[in-house]
Amino acid sequence: MSELPFGLDEALLSRLAVSGPRYTSYPTAPEWSADFGPGDASAAYARAAQRPDEPLSLYVHLPFCSRLCLYCGCTVEISGRPDRADSYLDAVERELELLAPQLGARRTLTQLHWGGGTPTFLSVPRLQRLHALISKHFTFRSDAEVSVEVDPHVTSAEQVSALVDLGFNRVSMGVQDLDARVQHAVRREQTSDETHDLVAHCRAAGVEGLNIDLMYGLPEQTEQGFAATLDAVAALAPDRLAVFGYAHVPWLKPAQKALEDYALPDAPTRARLFGLALQKLVAADYQVVGLDHFAKRDDSLMHALRDGRLHRNFMGYAVRAAEDMLGVGMSSIGEVAGAFIQNARDTKTYEAELAAGRLPVIRGLHRSAEDELRRAVILSLMCQMRISWPELEQATGRTQLAAHFASEWEALKPFADLGMCTMSSDALQVTEVGRLFLRHMAMLFDESLAKRAQDQGDQGPRFSKTL
Ligand SMILES: C[S@@+](CC[C@H](N)C(=O)[O-])C[C@H]1O[C@@H](n2cnc3c(N)ncnc32)[C@H](O)[C@@H]1O
Repeated sequence: MSELPFGLDEALLSRLAVSGPRYTSYPTAPEWSADFGPGDASAAYARAAQRPDEPLSLYVHLPFCSRLCLYCGCTVEISGRPDRADSYLDAVERELELLAPQLGARRTLTQLHWGGGTPTFLSVPRLQRLHALISKHFTFRSDAEVSVEVDPHVTSAEQVSALVDLGFNRVSMGVQDLDARVQHAVRREQTSDETHDLVAHCRAAGVEGLNIDLMYGLPEQTEQGFAATLDAVAALAPDRLAVFGYAHVPWLKPAQKALEDYALPDAPTRARLFGLALQKLVAADYQVVGLDHFAKRDDSLMHALRDGRLHRNFMGYAVRAAEDMLGVGMSSIGEVAGAFIQNARDTKTYEAELAAGRLPVIRGLHRSAEDELRRAVILSLMCQMRISWPELEQATGRTQLAAHFASEWEALKPFADLGMCTMSSDALQVTEVGRLFLRHMAMLFDESLAKRAQDQGDQGPRFSKTL
């Protein structure tokens, strides 16, 4: 077994392996309210409509997969029938018809992302139909970032070419691990050739940005095996990589229970695996972004990091191209005019609500002024790895932030003592070793966690392990 990265010690890692949010939103999803419904969503859309000249981002969720990967934490519906997508697309059509007019004249997209599930579960004519449904209501800026998630095992060259013809210029590919033993354990068989061929097809078809997803912390993963995966994937030279820590949340995703038959990697092993990713990908000339992303120096994610436009949402790290992001499709999350808006998380309810002529919104949250402030601090930590009160005062229009967060600042000092950050009187910079503890530092600014700990009324785990 190799040394722990950054000379960390096992006891410290085990002690800090608590459960905690990944801060893909703040306030986090368990805090959103079921009292927030279609009327609240419409009010947010009406506020967004008041800025007709600003562009929008749009996320569309396509939940279908033909197989269930046992680690999967996403909202999916397994189906062996390609025509299952037809009634779903009918519902998406209705949702767009209900939603788009509420945005008035604000109809220009600067970013579109199709996520899943597996968007390429859809045949070429269905992909074309979905794009036409969107184009009926929205126009695209000439420089729009148009992206899609694909699973190399089920995605054909024809689908990639059709997507490129529709204007898709970024592709995100799920790989996870190339080691056959890991793939078998998690029921996600995918040969290196499949991945290699799809990368080649994407490049030949003119895809401009290629992302590959890997995961560490899976059963049967060894340092040797993961090192081979990292080498093979780095040789494919994608523009970006996401190296996600496996989130084991069997109380939300019962299929994950099957993975408990294996000894799941513990916190020190996970740190070693992530340490390998840092070492190999930095050597392959990638820059590290936030918790778990890697990008080539000239990738748009790096530009966003430098210009302060790097954002974190339920998809991970993204370029914040527009102030507001619409979410369409079952389970999708929108971030619009100070609110989070989430749709029904099962296709039956989603389709039934739309058939009845209602927006399928099941929960959400209007952020308070305090939420906005804490969100700005947490985003700054998770994205820029920095807290600077003067900068945050300028960005939020608030004053006296050092005094406002005096107790949180005190609570950060032990992290500085451990070398995870450096602190001055009004600024904090997370160090390279501190990158592994970003979630821990962000948790100190999370009011709802503090309240729940106080109430002690909270039962059972809600979040995955932080390490
Ligand atoms: C919607 S999924 C993948 C899209 C596509 N269906 C595929 O499988 O290639 C997006 C990514 O989330 C990550 N992911 C899924 N479940 C996860 C979990 N439990 N913990 C951490 N990451 C997870 C995987 O890396 C996956 O590629």
